[in-house]
Amino acid sequence: MPNHPTLDASVQWRIDHGTIDLREPGYRGTAEAILDAGLATEVRRLISAGKEADVYLCAYNGAPLAVKAYRLYRTSHRGGRPIKADTMSWLAAQEFEMMRQAWKGGASVPTPARRVENLLSMRYLGEPDEPAPRLHDVSLEAPAEFMEAVLTGVDKLAAAGIVHSDLSAFNILVHEGVPFFIDFSDAIRVDRTGGVPWIRLTQARDALVHGFHALGKHFHRYGLAIEADSRADRIVQSLDRFGVLSNRTR
Ligand SMILES: Nc1ncnc2c1ncn2[C@@H]1O[C@H](COP(=O)(O)OP(=O)(O)OP(=O)(O)O)[C@@H](O)[C@H]1O
Ligand SMILES: [Mg+2]
Repeated sequence: MPNHPTLDASVQWRIDHGTIDLREPGYRGTAEAILDAGLATEVRRLISAGKEADVYLCAYNGAPLAVKAYRLYRTSHRGGRPIKADTMSWLAAQEFEMMRQAWKGGASVPTPARRVENLLSMRYLGEPDEPAPRLHDVSLEAPAEFMEAVLTGVDKLAAAGIVHSDLSAFNILVHEGVPFFIDFSDAIRVDRTGGVPWIRLTQARDALVHGFHALGKHFHRYGLAIEADSRADRIVQSLDRFGVLSNRTR
C-alpha cells in the first residue's frame, strides 16, 4: 500500500473547491492528462477500453510505452466525486506498487515506469503496430511448455511476494513466446502478511485456487489439466512462515 498521498495537493485542493472538471475526460482529455503529467511525449492510440481503465500506446521521445488510465467516473454514484477521483488514483498507485514489487523480485511483468494520479506507465509489449495478444487469443504451438512457463511464472510472482487475484488467460500477454502477467490492481502482497497472517494467506489461497481453475479451463482446450488445490496449497505453505495454516490445508 502506498504510504504517500495518491493525489497531488493541488488536485485535492481543486476537488475540495469544486474547480476540477469532473466529467469523464474522453480520449482527448486523457491524452492531454498523460502529456501534462509528463508520462509520455506522444499518445499514439487506444489499445484497450476496459471496465475500469483504458490502456494507451504512447511514446516517450520515440520509445514506445503503455499507459493505463483508470477512469475517474466508472459508477453511477456521481455524488461521491472526491472519493471517486481518490479511489482511482489509489487503484493506480496500488497496481504500480504491486508491479514494482513483482518486477523487483524478477517476475515476468511489464516493467513499471511511473505513476501520476490515476495514470500508470509501463513497458509496452508488442510490435509497433500490434500489441502483444492475450493468452486467450492465441493458438499455442507448444501448449504444455507454455503452461509450464505460466505455472512457473505464478510461482515466481509468489516468491516475489505477490499473488495475482484475477489470474486468467485474459490477464496474461504472450510476447516473444513468453507469458507476461498484467492487471495487478487487486493483487495481494504475501511477503508481509500484516498482523493477522491467517487472513491474508487464506485470501491468497482462494485467489490462487480461483486463478488455477481459470487457467485450467483455458488449457483444457489443449487436453491439459492443472491441479488447482494442490498447487495453491504448495505455494501458500511456502509463504506460511509461521505455520498458521498448517492445520487447515490438506
Ligand atoms: N504493457 C502492455 N503492453 C501492451 N498491451 C497492454 C499492456 N498492458 C495492458 N495492455 C492491453 O490492455 C488490455 C487491458 O489491460 P488490463 O487487463 O491491465 O486492464 P483492465 O482494466 O483489466 O481491462 P479489462 O477491464 O478489459 O480487464 C490488455 O488485455 C492488453 O491488451
Ligand atoms: Mg484485465
